[in-house]
Amino acid sequence: MTTRRTFLEVMAIGLPLMACKNDVSAQKGGNTQKPIVISTWKDGEGVNKAAWEVLSAQGSALDAVEKGAVYMEDQINCCVGLGGNPDREGKVTLDASIMDHQFNCGAVAFLERIKHPISVARKVMESTPHVFLVGAGAQQFAVEQGFSLEEDVLSEKAKEDYEEWLITSEYKPVINIEENAYNHDTMGLLALDATGNLSGACTTSGMAFKMRGRIGDSPIIGSGLYVENEVGAVVATGVGEEVIRTGGSSFVISMMRQGMSPQEACKKAIERIVNVNAERAKEMQVAFIALDKNGNHGAFAIQKEFHYCIKSDVEEVMLESASWF
Ligand code: GLY
Repeated sequence: MTTRRTFLEVMAIGLPLMACKNDVSAQKGGNTQKPIVISTWKDGEGVNKAAWEVLSAQGSALDAVEKGAVYMEDQINCCVGLGGNPDREGKVTLDASIMDHQFNCGAVAFLERIKHPISVARKVMESTPHVFLVGAGAQQFAVEQGFSLEEDVLSEKAKEDYEEWLITSEYKPVINIEENAYNHDTMGLLALDATGNLSGACTTSGMAFKMRGRIGDSPIIGSGLYVENEVGAVVATGVGEEVIRTGGSSFVISMMRQGMSPQEACKKAIERIVNVNAERAKEMQVAFIALDKNGNHGAFAIQKEFHYCIKSDVEEVMLESASWF
């Protein structure tokens, strides 16, 4: 597989920034590295560090992915958590999901005024007979579980963006641009712990200026996130509608189960989205990252300039994903 982008930004342990190319062959077979954590976007660097504190102390993949997501939700000028862009009515609504190595999963969506939706999702998983709570019910559950109700205010950046958006009030998902951290959407991370168990998490404030009540792929198990311990783990970022339409993450897992490498499987899922509507695909970003049970990882995006970060005992790198366009 050849990408047009030969030079990619890579941070390697003990090495300065250097160029590197991420292609399918680089990701096929060979590796058996654990523990390992991978995460979406350049912001994944800090997320991985947080998750690594758990993994390097022989902690579980589940604790690691929660910790990484919490770190991201704490960053105020970000697309994730309460600092994210609001819906068209000026309200920030959050979606998150988490899944472990035994098909246990929990999710929340359309959750307002709660700082750590990922931890509420974990509580749904561990303390209820359900897997998915939304809106007022999710918020009520969170409060009952001891989460604080935060003030209902936008961050300075979100307020500025929203006021600008109000001038036209036109909903048009823009292709996520990494340099504008505000403009991309989901933090997803996947971990394999020292015992060989996988878990995944994702958290987002969703698409900026979405319709009130809109929920994306991130809290939908099988779309935004899926973990099957015998095979691997997958998480998506980008325009959630396209991921939901094509059953994104569970499709990637099924391709891996049939023998594809993580990157080949991610590419297949992107191909499926492009094939649904090639014209529409030109105008949007969707990306998948995947990790198999041996610690091999891969990613594929519709558009260029999607990065993902990897941290293990042997590598600490940021790669630009291969892409369709
Ligand atoms: N991928 C996040 C969303 O569409 O809401």
